[in-house]
Amino acid sequence: MLATYHNRLRVVFAQTARKIVGAIMQRLVYGEYLPEVLGPNFMNKYDLTLARYQRFTGYSPNIDPAMVTEFSTAAFRFGHSTIRQTFGINGVQLDLKRIFDSFITVDRFGNNALLAGLSSDDMEQRDRFFSRGIRDDLLGIMLDLPAFNIQRGRDHGIPSYNSIRRFFRLPVYRTYAEMEGRTHTGETIAKLKMVYPTPDDIEMFPGGVSELPVPHGVVGETFANIIGEQFRRLKFGDRFWHETDNLVTGFTNGEELLYFLIVSSQCNELINRTQNVPRLPYL
Ligand code: HEM
Repeated sequence: MLATYHNRLRVVFAQTARKIVGAIMQRLVYGEYLPEVLGPNFMNKYDLTLARYQRFTGYSPNIDPAMVTEFSTAAFRFGHSTIRQTFGINGVQLDLKRIFDSFITVDRFGNNALLAGLSSDDMEQRDRFFSRGIRDDLLGIMLDLPAFNIQRGRDHGIPSYNSIRRFFRLPVYRTYAEMEGRTHTGETIAKLKMVYPTPDDIEMFPGGVSELPVPHGVVGETFANIIGEQFRRLKFGDRFWHETDNLVTGFTNGEELLYFLIVSSQCNELINRTQNVPRLPYL
């Protein structure tokens, strides 16, 4: 979708297209996506909320925006729990197994039909449950994505669930009883107990993906801290952050109108501008 928009803009603005698309992507991610995932408390804690008109002065050359392995190997994989078993395309719900055959799906129905379905169907709740097609039948060949995630954590030597909580100064659990109601339900704890003798044994992905969600967010408090910290680094360590007051790397004074249009952009508009789908309402 962003590539299409980039190509449309390129005709008019030549090199500025990249700057505009980068800026819009940051607006959508920080302005619309992250608030839903993290909720207001974690948006504030990690200073992720976008300014509407002021310029950004927080860039630091000492902040490394590279992905931390706790983010890529565990926390941001929360999305795997939100994947549906069926996807709506042209009014029909297709099983995940058929979506995996993406060449056939895109050739047959086109990107627009896929996007229309994705923007109108609800995601699954983020919790310890995964759709069958992700858990038992990944890619239609009996692979198990949550098992991959756990194994990948072991390959990368990421810390345990309790260790990462200690790092973020969250309460570290000595007994299972301490977890109940704070981050996990009794049923989830019973499942964790079957595999991990003590809370210290819990691995990061199973512990984090099964937490209760933070207020008005999708993920639990442990993943919210990892994701918040990663996106803080991506913002404060980005010399080209679109709100920057640096007129060399950011929008110049002559581009004020353009900047104003970008800070008012919303995801539904982008879809309307680039896709041949029925117009989406303003949310
Ligand atoms: C149908 C949808 C999806 C499928 C089939 C899928 C599949 C996969 C697979 C096979 C891997 C590699 C696993 C490994 O070998 O370690 C992976 C990695 C990953 N997935 Fe997904 N995924 C999907 C959706 C999502 C969503 C919605 C998110 C987040 C919101 C997400 C986040 C990630 C991340 C962060 C990684 C690790 C990437 C890296 O280390 O470079 N995925 N996914």
